[in-house]
Amino acid sequence: MNEHENNVPVTEPERQQYFIQKTSAILQSLENELGRKLTCHIATFGCPMNARDSEKLLGVLKEIGYEETEDETGADLVVMNTCTVRDNANQRIYGRIGVLKSFRKSNPHMRIALCGCMMQEESVIEKIKKSYPYVDLIFGTHNIYKLAELLYTMLSEDRQDIEILDHADRIVEQMPVSRKYFYKSGVNIMFGCDNFCSYCIVPYVRGRERSREPGDILSEIRTLAASGVIEIMLLGQNVNSYGKGCSDRISFAQLLQKASQIDGIERIRFMTSHPKDLSDELITVMKENDKICKHLHLPVQSGSSRILKLMNRRYDKEQYLDLALKIRDEIPDIAITTDIIVGFPTETEEDVNETLDVIEKVRFDNAFTFIYSKRTGTPASTMDGQVEEYFVKEQFARVLSLVQETSKKQTERFLGRCVPVLVEEVNEQDPSLLTGRMEQNLVVHFPGDPSLIGKILPVQLMECRGFYFYGKITRA
Ligand code: SAH
Ligand code: SF4
Ligand code: F3S
Repeated sequence: MNEHENNVPVTEPERQQYFIQKTSAILQSLENELGRKLTCHIATFGCPMNARDSEKLLGVLKEIGYEETEDETGADLVVMNTCTVRDNANQRIYGRIGVLKSFRKSNPHMRIALCGCMMQEESVIEKIKKSYPYVDLIFGTHNIYKLAELLYTMLSEDRQDIEILDHADRIVEQMPVSRKYFYKSGVNIMFGCDNFCSYCIVPYVRGRERSREPGDILSEIRTLAASGVIEIMLLGQNVNSYGKGCSDRISFAQLLQKASQIDGIERIRFMTSHPKDLSDELITVMKENDKICKHLHLPVQSGSSRILKLMNRRYDKEQYLDLALKIRDEIPDIAITTDIIVGFPTETEEDVNETLDVIEKVRFDNAFTFIYSKRTGTPASTMDGQVEEYFVKEQFARVLSLVQETSKKQTERFLGRCVPVLVEEVNEQDPSLLTGRMEQNLVVHFPGDPSLIGKILPVQLMECRGFYFYGKITRA
């Protein structure tokens, strides 16, 4: 940026509004020169937090004047919003940046920007500088709100620009957002994580836990509802510890109650819940409030108390079982889903047996099963007893097969019922069908007209195909 400009606002979001206009002017002159609109493409990796960040990035790009395109290799601006939770996520991203090289050469206007969690790692930045010098802009997780300012520098100075902040300096409200779905939206309630599970890189790349003020969250939900959103998903790495540091201190359960009172909001989801912080108050609210979906994602990670201790999860097998079974008791129709890691340092067959025992006892409705991935800088990465790959694969197969068997049985328990389904899209394989979701997050396919997308309708569950249903609308 030109240091001599003295009319640049210092407060946010005014400063970014200023840069949206400045960048827009540059884009306009490029458009005039080329006789066409400039296009952008955002590729999103990772969790719902990243998906929500991408909607914010797209909101800024559209205000600047970019047109969104599905065509990654033909876009004038490609933004990759990256994830680094496991190494295979990183490898996929390097592959995609590699593919862009020749396209960047043949389209002189193409610019490549990388952002998100992976960019918060020093070793990644070094590698990109060395092996992918054609990348134009790199920023991290703490400065996505500055996209317009960063683009302005990139376009006006035409050089590689790297800005990574090591911590968040603020939460900027009131930035433009372009939503992917008109009827549902994620809503950040907190950022970062303070739990430092010993295998996990998220606290290092997303920074310390920060909660948004309840007033800001509720006013965002009101705006979303007014624009037609009926389902919201409250997002945070550990929603159960929501509220720390807020001037208006309320619990997560109270926040759910307040959100459910907003006109137009019919369904509320949230993720993720850490078992150590899940309160009785939350169970009661989930039980009594019909707008809160009967679905709880409650990552267990392992069933072995010994491994859980090494993982720094701060609960043991018995505590997890007590909690999950209490929830099953209180809310019989609830779907409990989980995350499981196989192959944590020192894990033995007996430890995995404990995990299988928890799967059997809790009867998870679904589970994401991951092979442990060593993340540089985390305590687990330097632990003795890293486990051999062949052994992990064997154990992984045992876990996966029980998970599949259990979740099939759990899904079947709903067969024959008539349940409310939020119609989400036209079925990808068969356009005569629509696809929707039950509050338990189970997928249902049924005949219907695309005009029903975004509505909640009663659907009879006629046939169970393992993890999803075929059904029919019982009245429109
Ligand atoms: N905050 C959430 C999890 C976010 S990461 C929670 O605590 O529940 C999503 C999932 O990725 C985790 O639940 C864990 O199962 C998995 N994961 C995280 N780090 C991993 C690693 N190093 N190797 C394998 N899986 C990992
Ligand atoms: Fe990672 Fe643990 Fe935080 Fe989840 S709670 S993001 S697994 S450190
Ligand atoms: Fe990945 Fe970052 Fe989410 S590492 S899982 S995108 S918080």
